[in-house]
Amino acid sequence: FNVPTPINEPVKTYAPGTTERASLKKALEEARSKEIEVPMYIGSREVFTDTKIKIAPPHDHQHVLGYFHEGNASHVQEAIDAALAAQASWAALSWEQRASIFLKAAELVAGPYRAEINAATMLGQSKNAYQAEIDAACEFIDFLRFNVKFMTDIYAQQPESSPGVWNRMEYRPLEGFVFALTPFNFTAIAGNLPAAPALMGNVVLWKPAYTQVYAAQVLMKVFKEAGLPDGVINMILVDGPVAGEVIFKHPDFAGIHFTGSTKVFQTIWKTIGENIAVYKSFPRIVGETGGKDFVLAHPSANAKAVATGLIRGAFEYQGQKCSAASRAYLPANLWEPIRGYMQEALAEIKMGGVEDFSNFINAVIDEKSFDKIVFYLEKTEQSDGKAEIIMGGKYDKSKGYFIEPTVILTTDPGYVTLCEELFGPVLTVYIYEPDDFEQVLDIVNSTSPYALTGAIFAQDRYAIETATRRLSQAAGNFYINDKPTGAVVGQQPFGGSRASGTNDKAGSVLNLLRWVSPRVLKETL
Ligand code: NAD
Ligand code: ALA
Repeated sequence: FNVPTPINEPVKTYAPGTTERASLKKALEEARSKEIEVPMYIGSREVFTDTKIKIAPPHDHQHVLGYFHEGNASHVQEAIDAALAAQASWAALSWEQRASIFLKAAELVAGPYRAEINAATMLGQSKNAYQAEIDAACEFIDFLRFNVKFMTDIYAQQPESSPGVWNRMEYRPLEGFVFALTPFNFTAIAGNLPAAPALMGNVVLWKPAYTQVYAAQVLMKVFKEAGLPDGVINMILVDGPVAGEVIFKHPDFAGIHFTGSTKVFQTIWKTIGENIAVYKSFPRIVGETGGKDFVLAHPSANAKAVATGLIRGAFEYQGQKCSAASRAYLPANLWEPIRGYMQEALAEIKMGGVEDFSNFINAVIDEKSFDKIVFYLEKTEQSDGKAEIIMGGKYDKSKGYFIEPTVILTTDPGYVTLCEELFGPVLTVYIYEPDDFEQVLDIVNSTSPYALTGAIFAQDRYAIETATRRLSQAAGNFYINDKPTGAVVGQQPFGGSRASGTNDKAGSVLNLLRWVSPRVLKETL
C-alpha cells in the first residue's frame, strides 16, 4: 500500500516574536470580538433551532463567545436517517478516496485552520496555547495521518491461499451507524472518535460535549472542507440521555466509540445490554473512561525529576487529562527535596485566562466541576488530621472557575482523594518508609478501581523491573522515569483497563480493527 509515511506533527512554540504567536493572538482577538452560532450538521443541512445555549470561556464565564443550537429526539432520528442514506455510497468509495479526505483534513489543520482550532480550544475549553497546540493541532493531525497507515496495515492482513484456491479477507465497515460520544477535555479525541470509524467506511452520529462545541464546530468545518460527503459524520447537539434514548433503541445501531467518565459508560453499556435483541448486529462497544493515575517514586529516584513529573503530570490543563497524575507514593528519604522543588515551581506558576500566554494554569471546565473539586477540598479541611492541604488550596469562581494547583498529604492509603477521580488540579501524596517499597506496590495496585496511566521513577533497575511486573494490570500506559501524561499517537498507543475502559488503544491499529467487520472470500480457481 502506497501511503504517506506518517511523522508526528512538530509542536509550535508560540514564543514571543514568532509568526505563529501573532496569528494565534489575532485569532483569539477575532474570536472574542464576535458571537459565533454553532448549528447541528445533519446530512447536507446546518440545523439551527429555537433553543440557543450560551458558550462562555470557563476563565471568563460572563463573556459570551456565542451560542449553540440544541436539538431534540427528532433531530437524532433525522441524523440517523441521513447517516444511513449516505452509507452505501461512502462504503463504495475506494480506501484511497476515503484516506485522501482525512489526509487533506490533517493538512488543513496543520496550515490554514491551525490558529482557529487552537483559539477555539483555548477559549472554549480554557487551555493555554501550548496545551491547545499539543491537542487540537498536533494530536489531531497525528490521529488523521497515522490512522491511514493503520488502515492499510489492517487491509494488508490476508489469509494464505493454496494452488487452485484464492482466499481473501475483505474488511467491510459495520452494518449500520456508529455513535461517537466525546468528552470536553481533548479536541483531538473529539475529532478522532468520529473520524476513525468513518475512515474505515462507516457512517457516524457524533455528539460532542456541550463544553467543547466551539472547537467541535471547527472540526466539522475542516471535515467538510476536506471533502467529506454529506451524512458521513453528523454532528448532533442533543442532551446525552435524550440522544441515547433514540440511538440505543435503533436496530441499525452498530457500535459506540466513547470517551468520557466511567459512570456514563457503565450506564450506556447497561442500556445497550437491555436493548441487545433490538439490534441487527451485536454492537461494537469501545470506551475509554476515567483514571486515577499514579506516580510512584523508589528511594533511588532523582528527586528533581519526580518533582517535575508531578508538577507537569498533575497540573497541566488543570489536572483535567484522563492521564493526569493525581496520586503520588513517595519515599520518606526523598520527600523533603521533592516538596522543596515543588514549592519552588508552584511559586513561579501563574494562573489566569488563556489570553495571557504566561499563565500556566487556567480555569476548570465549568461550575459543576469546580463545585465537585471544592467539595473534596472542604472535606479535606474537615478530615480530622487524616489529610491536609499542604500547597495551594484556594479557589474563586467569581470571574472564572479557578482552583489553585493543590497538594494534599495523607497518611491513609485509602483516603478518598487518593482513590477517587476528582478531575482537577489536585494531587494527593502518600509517604512511605523506604523499606516498604514492596508493600506500597500492593497499595498502588489495589486502592483505586482505575488502570489508565501510571509512572515509576527509579534509578535502581531491579526496582523498575519489580514495579513493572507487579503493576502489570494497574495501568494501560506505564511510564518509566517520565510523567504519566502526553502519549503520542503512533508512539504510545493510549488506553486503560479495569474501570478505565475497554483498552482498545487510541492511536493504534487495535482501535481501527474495532470498526471493521471482516468477510472471508474463498474462490476456487
Ligand atoms: P462525561 O462522561 O461527563 O461526558 C462524556 C460524553 O457523554 C459527553 O458528550 C456527555 O454529554 C455525554 N453524556 C453524559 N451523560 C450521558 C448519558 N447519560 N447518556 C449519553 N451521553 C451522556 O465526561 P467528560 O466530563 O466530558 O470528560 C471527562 C471524563 O472523561 C473523565 O472521567 C476522564 O477521565 C475521561 N476521559 C478518558 C479518556 C481516556 O482515554 N480514558 C480521555 C479523555 C477523558
Ligand atoms: N494523549 C493524552 C495523554 O496521554 C490523553 O495525556
